[in-house]
Amino acid sequence: MSLKDRRIVLIGASSGIGLACARAAREAGARLVIAGRNTERLEHARRALDGAVEAFRLDAMESESVAAFFRRVGAHDHLSIFVPTVPNARVRAQLGLFADTPSDAFAAVFASKFGANLNCLRYGAPHVRGSIVLVTGQAHRKSLPGYAAGAAANGALEALVRTLALELAPVRINAVAPGIVETPILRAMPAEMFEAFAAKTRNQPVARLGAAGEIAGAVLELMGNGYATGAVLEIDGGYKLA
Ligand SMILES: NC(=O)c1ccc[n+]([C@@H]2O[C@H](COP(=O)([O-])OP(=O)(O)OC[C@H]3O[C@@H](n4cnc5c(N)ncnc54)[C@H](OP(=O)(O)O)[C@@H]3O)[C@@H](O)[C@H]2O)c1
Repeated sequence: MSLKDRRIVLIGASSGIGLACARAAREAGARLVIAGRNTERLEHARRALDGAVEAFRLDAMESESVAAFFRRVGAHDHLSIFVPTVPNARVRAQLGLFADTPSDAFAAVFASKFGANLNCLRYGAPHVRGSIVLVTGQAHRKSLPGYAAGAAANGALEALVRTLALELAPVRINAVAPGIVETPILRAMPAEMFEAFAAKTRNQPVARLGAAGEIAGAVLELMGNGYATGAVLEIDGGYKLA
């Protein structure tokens, strides 16, 4: 199923995997609506993408703003959401082993990843004609001490995908579960944390960090494949096997 002239909405497309997805979708001839919180980053992305791209400032954690955004955007063919698990550096600094993590930091992670996706699904799904693709992760499949909150949020999202595949049909909904991918969010981590993630990939069958474009390719595949629904596509270099 071609994405040429399809209208695609990408929430969190000013950076990383979302931006790579926007690039690939433009190359496939799609018309885009991109959104994110920081207008400068958004404008930079819009200019880099060139052509049929509308950009809107949006915090996907604010339900009323999300409702207004989708009323304004209206009907579209595909929707994908790239909001990260950790909303800011303050929350990141509070995360650790479950026993050491304050409940409000745990809740902030859940609000960012699960809550933002929930808002986009609730207010966006009624306007979608074709498919929705969520981006989850791997920590709920291969346990990682210190990452309980993100694991819980991503596991919950995959459960939602399977239920909504039935409830939203004929609209399709799928997820891509990346392994460890080199994006600005990974690069923004303290050096020792980045190195710890990079070291984990060295035991994988594909012994390197993933590239944002490799995950974007999977997102576009799920949008274009009219027989895919309720699926979770794991693009992780074999992370969970190692
Ligand atoms: N990188 C990895 O190793 C990895 C692994 C597994 C899963 N993932 C998942 O992949 C997705 C993309 O991650 P990434 O690594 O590409 O991150 P990234 O480079 O930090 O990009 C995140 C994007 O989301 C936007 N964003 C953040 N909070 C938002 C909010 N509340 N409302 C609207 N937009 C928001 C950011 O722009 P603003 O900050 O300007 O809003 C940015 O455009 C996330 O769901 C992440 O959990 C990533």
